[in-house]
Amino acid sequence: MAHSDSHILAGRRILLGISGGIAACKTAELARLLVTASCDVRVVMTPAATQFIAPLTLQAITGWPVSTEIFDPQQEAAMGHIALARWADLIVIAPASADCIAKLYTGQADTLLHTLCLASTAPLALAPAMNTHMWQHPATQANIQGLQQRGVRCWGPADGAQACGDTGPGRLSEPTELYQHIVAHFTHGSLADCHLLLTAGPTREPLDAVRYIGNRSSGRMGYAIAAAAVEQGARVTLISGPTALACPAGVTRYLVQTAQQMYDQVMARIAQADIFVACAAVADYRPETCADHKIKKGSTPYSLTLVPNPDILATVAALPKPPYCLGFAAETDQVLAHAEAKRQAKQIPLLAANQVSATTGIETDENALTLLSDQGRIHLPQQPKQRLARQLIHHLAEQYHAQTAVQNS
Ligand code: CTP
Repeated sequence: MAHSDSHILAGRRILLGISGGIAACKTAELARLLVTASCDVRVVMTPAATQFIAPLTLQAITGWPVSTEIFDPQQEAAMGHIALARWADLIVIAPASADCIAKLYTGQADTLLHTLCLASTAPLALAPAMNTHMWQHPATQANIQGLQQRGVRCWGPADGAQACGDTGPGRLSEPTELYQHIVAHFTHGSLADCHLLLTAGPTREPLDAVRYIGNRSSGRMGYAIAAAAVEQGARVTLISGPTALACPAGVTRYLVQTAQQMYDQVMARIAQADIFVACAAVADYRPETCADHKIKKGSTPYSLTLVPNPDILATVAALPKPPYCLGFAAETDQVLAHAEAKRQAKQIPLLAANQVSATTGIETDENALTLLSDQGRIHLPQQPKQRLARQLIHHLAEQYHAQTAVQNS
């Protein structure tokens, strides 16, 4: 079983949290299944969990030291708790005790595991396990329902005989079942059945037969978003300016040069799109005329007349039935103020603002984004664009589905 799922799970970074409970001994089997499927698994245990299973067991299975303490200098040196929070593609807590769930609901951070959950923007899944009366208690039910409303997944608990002698719901789901939930999480994806249309890269505005006005965009952020959307099951159409990047697997790409060509390609396909992501660094202006020969140099100043290009994002957002739009705002100063003004002016639900600096934004491997929407702000910290794109898609999918649910109600 694990072998055939390797293509789905290979390289996925799974943070396996273990809280205190007799079922903790079953988590070793889940870790083994994930490692066999080539997942990169790191284990974090609450101090209570170490009473039920030895960290060394999990270390032997995963090949990595197990973290338990929040202020352990050795563990912080290996991978600090914030780095670990950013590292994860998915956090699974199995077993999640009543206490663990209550602390997650109220946002407490008195263990390393709870701190990580607060600090991470990765999806979180809980596999509850506890005495059946504790599970059925209104306090636990209110906590778990509150967490689910925030998007936390709840896998289980299973029904049956319990270690304490009671019978009823409260048993940890079997490791094979939890494993299947993890496979399903990465297979079905949050954008299954969605068509996502995306612009990426720079545009080139020709000046004469050999010259153009362009910008430094590499297209990396847009291409990473396209790949992350495919991972989440979306059908992705990419309208790309000139870049050196290969088309990501599963993406349909149309290459263009100018802003006008990008506009034409987008408008020809926008009616079929559920989501539009405007990631391209589109030239705002183009030379009024383009010489069909090479312009020869002279000794006097040369001036150019530039005329505005169409604003693709603003046009799409103003359609009578626009798709859900995600725009970008690359800014060098007053990032959030300019970005919010852009969001309002173009009337788009979600905008990703980024500061262009030497290490982030254009032509760099890493980026940081702040997502602005009517629901507030979410900061996605500086990290490689591929990982950032996965987080961005996670939030985009959530907001898209929330808006669709409101429209359908
Ligand atoms: N955009 C677009 N078409 C344009 C210009 C911009 O679709 N002709 C989109 C970009 O892809 C991005 C958003 O609009 O999603 C904001 O682009 P940006 O260049 O940051 O802002 P502008 O609206 O062009 O404003 P300014 O250049 O004054 O900052």
